[in-house]
Amino acid sequence: MKENKTVYLNGDYIPLIEAKISVLDRGFLFGDGVYEVIPAYQGHLFHLSDHLQRLEKSLAGIRLKNPYSSEQWLDIFTFLLDRSKNQYIYLQITRGADVKRDHAFPENVSPTVFVMCSDILPFQGKITGIKAVTLPDSRWQFCNLKTIALLANILHRQDAIDQNTAEALLIKDDYVTEGAASNVFIVINGTLITPPKNHLILPGITRDVILNIAQKNHIPYKEENISLSQLKSAEEVWVTSSTREIVPVIEVDGLSVATGCPGSVYQQMDQLFQAYKQSLV
Ligand code: PDD
Repeated sequence: MKENKTVYLNGDYIPLIEAKISVLDRGFLFGDGVYEVIPAYQGHLFHLSDHLQRLEKSLAGIRLKNPYSSEQWLDIFTFLLDRSKNQYIYLQITRGADVKRDHAFPENVSPTVFVMCSDILPFQGKITGIKAVTLPDSRWQFCNLKTIALLANILHRQDAIDQNTAEALLIKDDYVTEGAASNVFIVINGTLITPPKNHLILPGITRDVILNIAQKNHIPYKEENISLSQLKSAEEVWVTSSTREIVPVIEVDGLSVATGCPGSVYQQMDQLFQAYKQSLV
């Protein structure tokens, strides 16, 4: 392991190389935990309270108590962040390590809390656009919770990569849910459309920011289910996430999206998004 930054583990700030957890940790044994990814531009955490609210909901969804107050989380993030860079916080909470492996919740076990930050690297796909492939959504019924049990997402993303594309667009009952690690937007007749929030998708923070920007700038938008045929005939397709922001999709299942170049609504929204980010720094 080359990188040796400082990370947070269960109350201590330690070098990454020294951060160790038990093999009995339920995150390791069962994927029993939740996580968050929070971007920070020059040390300014982006929509921190929205991320902490989503964390609270994910924790409630798996019946785990939030180990820290918002102030305590902020102290940890502030300690780890480098204010001269654009970085993202990765935080993970698991149900901790019991003395035995048992599916049922253990009693009197402290959660494991891990936090690290990493640099946000420029993503070429934001400029060129990316290719995507549709795949049947094989995930479970709690996609609204940000859990660390990501095996289905991993298999979807890897399938996409094996098909020389960068993202999988997931389809359930002929409708688009989201990407393997992103939310999905399309543009039809100049109107921005993204699926409504429900148990089938992660309520993306970037998604909500984009809808707010659309509203403030009179860009027409709808939160509505997107059929596979709408996806295939859309003028524009985007995927969105905290680490890559807005990424235009220029090809779906080997067919060009419109002219096969990032579209004008994307260009406009990306400019507005960058200006909004700047206004918060
Ligand atoms: N993932 N949907 C899924 C399944 C995701 O994994 C993500 C983000 C999103 C977008 O959410 P947000 O805008 O809040 O980042 C939607 C993060 C980046 C990850 O797992 O690394």
